[in-house]
Amino acid sequence: MSQAVSINHQDEIAVISINNPPVNALSQAVRSGLVKCVSAAVAEQSIRAIVLICTGRTFIAGADISEFGKPPLTPYLPDVLATLEGCPKPIIAAIHGTALGGGLETALACHYRLALNGSRVGLPEVNLGLIPGAGGTQRLPRIAGLENALDMITSGRHVKAEEALEMGVVDELSSENDLLKIAIEFARKILTRDKTWPRSSEIKLEDSSVNQGVLKNWKTRVSKKARGQESPLAAMESIKNAIQLSFAEGLKKERELFLTCMASPQSKALRHIFFAERAAAKLPESVANTPIEIRTTAIIGGGTMGRGIAMCFANQNIPVKVIETDQEKLDQALNAIEKTYAKMVTSGRLSEDQRQQRLTKISGSCNHASLAQVDLVIEAAFENLEVKHSIFRSLDQHCRPDAILATNTSYLDIEAIASAVREPSRVVGMHFFSPAHIMKLLEVVRIPQTSATTISTMMKLGKQLGKRTVLVGNGFGFAANRMYSAYGREGQQMLLEGVTPIQLDQAMKNWGMAMGPTAVLDMSGIDIGYNARKQNPNPPDDPCYFRPANLLAERGYLGRKTGRGFYRYDPETGLASEDLEICALIREEALKLGVKQRDLSENEIQQRMIKAIATEGETIMSEGLATRTSDLDVIWVNGYGFPRWRGGPMHFSQSIDR
Ligand code: 3HC
Repeated sequence: MSQAVSINHQDEIAVISINNPPVNALSQAVRSGLVKCVSAAVAEQSIRAIVLICTGRTFIAGADISEFGKPPLTPYLPDVLATLEGCPKPIIAAIHGTALGGGLETALACHYRLALNGSRVGLPEVNLGLIPGAGGTQRLPRIAGLENALDMITSGRHVKAEEALEMGVVDELSSENDLLKIAIEFARKILTRDKTWPRSSEIKLEDSSVNQGVLKNWKTRVSKKARGQESPLAAMESIKNAIQLSFAEGLKKERELFLTCMASPQSKALRHIFFAERAAAKLPESVANTPIEIRTTAIIGGGTMGRGIAMCFANQNIPVKVIETDQEKLDQALNAIEKTYAKMVTSGRLSEDQRQQRLTKISGSCNHASLAQVDLVIEAAFENLEVKHSIFRSLDQHCRPDAILATNTSYLDIEAIASAVREPSRVVGMHFFSPAHIMKLLEVVRIPQTSATTISTMMKLGKQLGKRTVLVGNGFGFAANRMYSAYGREGQQMLLEGVTPIQLDQAMKNWGMAMGPTAVLDMSGIDIGYNARKQNPNPPDDPCYFRPANLLAERGYLGRKTGRGFYRYDPETGLASEDLEICALIREEALKLGVKQRDLSENEIQQRMIKAIATEGETIMSEGLATRTSDLDVIWVNGYGFPRWRGGPMHFSQSIDR
């Protein structure tokens, strides 16, 4: 028998256990082991039922993604699952952790499903540019109904066990800890209760006008939401087959669609980013060390960033103190946090209990003496070196000598900030993105003096806060803002060449970016970048450098907050419209600068913008400011709305260069 799958008997019940760390993925060894163990259980006459259970932290989390893109190995998963469903003895899937993708498909091919409270199930294949390829699109609609299947498969969302029970995906839930014991009891119960075992492939789905209507509505919804991503639509096509074709035909077509998706550039890009995100969390050996535990934190500054960062900690149950310079500012900050949580309750994103729990984690003070016992301080004050210096001098006096001192600067020199303290090995950058409690990206910025313990602690903390955390080096704008600046600069150059803000934004949105670059500037405030550029110790010697944005900032057209920026904003509705005066102003400036006016195609705009990012990324790598090229992709996908299905700017550029 394969080591990854084993079988033992508990009287008349066979227990098949999968043990394939870390997540019990369905590798070739697991697939072949499953077939062998089921055959052995069928052959053994004393066995009347089979429990399928997994060791370790989770039930099967899916097919083995590392096998994708390589020649497929037998036995194929759909055949394995046909063996399971066709087994004459009932099979009970005992689920804990997450049953995802091929893992849930395996459970759906079993005759019964039992789950521990707190476990989750899902078919997240669309997130890898795939569709479920082992019967998920055929079995789930039969078991959970068409609408639930469309929701789960096209979104890829993880569904809590309680909801899965309501949908009929799970037959029973248990809150006891001993899953094996409960599963064996369940097996004994069904042996006395049931004469035949439900087989999902035998359930009939009607090709009725009601179902047709449901499909039509979902197609409109999914097309709108997918925005360029192919797999959710391919999944819909396969789900449609579940009502129009026989199970066997539907399964055959599902496999064809699955293999087509697997070969697509989108799936390659999404698989790249899946592994890139996990790789980014791994530290190079030179800086890996045992992290210390962060039990209490303080944030200096209760402005927008400080509040958002404080919520990140409270959301993870870590006590956090907000420090302000006076009581009025502190009250403002704490009230704003309360309001944000209250809004989340109103919109249903948070329960009242959660809101209260989170608020108990947040306290405030106007006194640095209250920092004496905290493990970590994150300074989130103004972007001004003098201000930061004086704060760090005070931290040096008031904090424990081993407390970590972090700055949330976006571009200031962290070595210069660290010069204010006696022990710079505990100084590090923690660059959150706004709004900090929502944005996934976190840059941990190290300076040469930062100790391995400090770095390891911050990387672990980033994961604990639910962030995609990337380690970068110290340099103006670090990695993220520096690349974004190269992207912005190229856009600004094209505005001078005659592209309008609308054309530029539309081109990048059509390419898949969540927002266009000038709309982003208007939203965040044109003065932010303007002031940041002024702090650049080595600005480029180029009169065109961000000239349109600088021009607007100098005239007080700062974007949404002033009603005018690259666009004009309706004071009542906030709706943006083209501002022809601004277009003329930019053109006039371009003529003064001697920039030739011309028409640029959408394709040229897109290519130049992405090339600008990738070129800057290569420079960042050559300067040793990031660990892996793929870390830069993680930054873009999680920080700047870069389409995941394009894999990030570095992956995209490399794939077209090949
Ligand atoms: N195949 C291979 N390796 C996998 C994997 C998979 N399906 N899922 C996770 N891993 C690996 C990760 O790469 C990581 O490896 P590393 O430690 O060497 O970096 C390790 O398992 C742990 O993963 P995470 O760091 O993500 O651990 P978490 O505890 O944070 O999350 C998880 C666990 C929720 C299971 C998450 O890993 C996950 O979402 N995995 C992917 C699930 C998925 O997409 N399944 C569908 C696959 S496609 C499929 O099944 C096709 C079928 O229809 C035919």
